[in-house]
Amino acid sequence: MNPVGVVVSSHGRELEVQVQGGELELGSIVKISDNFGIVASMHYVEDEKIGAKQKLIAEVQVFGSLVNGRLKRLKKPLKPYLEVFLVDKSDLEGILSVSDSISLGTVHGTSARAFLNASEFDRHTAILASTGSGKSYTASNLIKEFGLLSLPVVVVDTHGEYARILSKLASENPFKIEVHTVKRTRQGVSQLKIPVSNLEATDYHHFLHLTEPQESALVEILGNLSGDYNLSDVVSGTSKLNVNVYHEGTIAALTRKLKTLERVFKDVFDKFGTDISNLVEPGQVTIIDCSLASQNVRRSVVSYLSKELLSSRINKLNDFDGEKIDYPLLLVVEEAHNYAGSNLSHSCKKQLQRVASEGRKFGIGLCVISQKPSKIDEEILSQCNTGIYMHITNPRDKDHIRRSFESINDAIISDLDSLDVGECIIAGAMLDIPFLVCQVDRIELKKEKKSKFDFKKKAEVKHAKADYV
Ligand SMILES: Nc1ncnc2c1ncn2[C@@H]1O[C@H](COP(=O)(O)OP(=O)(O)OP(=O)(O)O)[C@@H](O)[C@H]1O
Ligand SMILES: [Mg+2]
Repeated sequence: MNPVGVVVSSHGRELEVQVQGGELELGSIVKISDNFGIVASMHYVEDEKIGAKQKLIAEVQVFGSLVNGRLKRLKKPLKPYLEVFLVDKSDLEGILSVSDSISLGTVHGTSARAFLNASEFDRHTAILASTGSGKSYTASNLIKEFGLLSLPVVVVDTHGEYARILSKLASENPFKIEVHTVKRTRQGVSQLKIPVSNLEATDYHHFLHLTEPQESALVEILGNLSGDYNLSDVVSGTSKLNVNVYHEGTIAALTRKLKTLERVFKDVFDKFGTDISNLVEPGQVTIIDCSLASQNVRRSVVSYLSKELLSSRINKLNDFDGEKIDYPLLLVVEEAHNYAGSNLSHSCKKQLQRVASEGRKFGIGLCVISQKPSKIDEEILSQCNTGIYMHITNPRDKDHIRRSFESINDAIISDLDSLDVGECIIAGAMLDIPFLVCQVDRIELKKEKKSKFDFKKKAEVKHAKADYV
């Protein structure tokens, strides 16, 4: 095998390699003597010896050598002038293999599988990319892989796309899917109900425009209710308000607004919500299809799911009374910026923060997916120890990622623009090496149109001949 470069300088684990030939690129994994490293960035420099000619330099991060199948970190710099080679497939799979592994695709530019350490699922994952870069397909591959390990998965599906993608994967792999809809019914599909008691006073604000006195009246009504109740109990609570404290007009307006809420959302909110423990089964992916629900309802879904999943796991592991869930699980939240926005006042953000900070102790992994990372609460993002980054151009999003993730260096963030659809950079807890460029497996869906205008044949237009002087 021919060398692809030679080490020209070496500081700790950072090497500068003068590139030879055209095979090295961002993310290439190389072997230098017994050690392995990854190309983190590339740039040209002037070469004084050869006049105006420039030489291409690759910055390589060395991560160590393989000793008895395990990576041993580099303790002193490598010598300059060593030759650099591309790793072969078996070395590559040796570096990445772990006992419980999942794989989203191949290591970029090779046929080696890009193995990740599945047991780090509970240190949370973020899939971040501009729209149309392949987030949902990547998440589907991730869900399929966890499904194959029998880990129960619950997906909050904002656009109603996962049933289609995951049905295809479930037809080829041994895991099953179950779909629940929210707000609208579909034949043969169960409907998810949210208990009214899960709504906090701030959540009502998202459905109703309340004045300050109306809000304090509502807080009092909710304070007087306990256990399970439905919206008609909240409406009845208005009749018990003290007319010496609240103006009659305030009470009447609040009653009217609450009655509207009861009427419009009677098929969403109920005295008893869906039993969440029934959604969590080994080898089952449960999809909560929220595509026909409004944003406020979706937020209530996320709030209810996050709260119930966490409390049921706490009950199980601490042997407390109440609902229990016997298995660890993964909660996947699409369009996470809508539920974890930095300025959001809805309880869903608080509940997601709790899952992000406490979930690991109770075996809950969170996977947030978003095309607007800069809108996500930094506290939640920084709890995601594995980052899967796809094509991103927005400087604000890049800045936010830089601040929230320790595991990714600046050079890689700058290179996120160069990723094509289906390519991702993975960094963090699920990997033993600094990062990996991965070509995510393609999922072939039958009805995918090649062109947005497939429905109609292009009309032929005959141009009249005209002579110009
Ligand atoms: N791994 C892949 N290989 C090849 N093509 C892919 C891959 N993943 C996705 N695509 C293509 O890109 C399109 C968009 O993918 P996807 O819906 O996953 O993007 P997205 O980032 O989730 O978009 P949105 O922001 O709209 O939710 C798909 O319809 C598919 O054609
Ligand atoms: Mg998507």
